[in-house]
Amino acid sequence: MQTSITGLPDLTNKRFVVLGIQGSGKSVLVKYILKSYKHSIVYDVLREHQGLDRYFVERRQVVKHNEDDPAIIELNNFVNQVVIGSGQIRLFVLEEANRYCPPKPTPLPSSILDLNDFNRHDKIAWGAVARRPSQLNTDLIDLAHYLFLFELPGKHDRDYLSDIIDGLGEAVRDLPPYHFIIVEHNRKFQTHKPIPFLLGG
Ligand SMILES: Nc1ncnc2c1ncn2[C@@H]1O[C@H](COP(=O)(O)OP(=O)(O)OP(=O)(O)O)[C@@H](O)[C@H]1O
Ligand SMILES: [Mg+2]
Repeated sequence: MQTSITGLPDLTNKRFVVLGIQGSGKSVLVKYILKSYKHSIVYDVLREHQGLDRYFVERRQVVKHNEDDPAIIELNNFVNQVVIGSGQIRLFVLEEANRYCPPKPTPLPSSILDLNDFNRHDKIAWGAVARRPSQLNTDLIDLAHYLFLFELPGKHDRDYLSDIIDGLGEAVRDLPPYHFIIVEHNRKFQTHKPIPFLLGG
């Protein structure tokens, strides 16, 4: 794994997913990542990312989960026009991704499908943030180059992870506060110490 000074992988042109319960440290890591890459932007659903390039979401609630839903239209417009369309963005993070990309059979928003294609062709790194793996479309998890896993106390979530990789659920169970596990696409994983809070927060 190619790593930066902090031991984080190089996310250039990569897809990643950040998972963990409320308050486990996801947004602190996301802030650190956003600050580390030029031309990055976050879809800031809960307004957690003051001081960074971010999009203020007008409609937080997704009701119908189809392309007519105003919240999905808003996301699609932003991703198509700014993230992909501007040609400027090199890293995009979707916070609260479970609201927009819940498990199948709900289809992924069309812009997210496009992003997965454009990510390969146009060199846009992008990450999805959610609390629980079972609340997120499995394609995002299966296609991710990297998973960043914080505390997940639920047995159901840990069983889900152990189904993907032997021993992963147990490793997540044993994580100290704010520590996280980085899973590579080749299924290797390692525990990472907390992001220095002043850098991330
Ligand atoms: N690496 C860290 N070192 C020290 N404290 C941390 C660290 N990461 C998070 N914290 C503490 O935990 C709080 C919550 O972290 P964060 O906002 O990243 O949680 P989250 O996982 O994004 O939660 P949510 O699901 O509610 O968005 C921070 O405000 C900070 O007080
Ligand atoms: Mg958060």
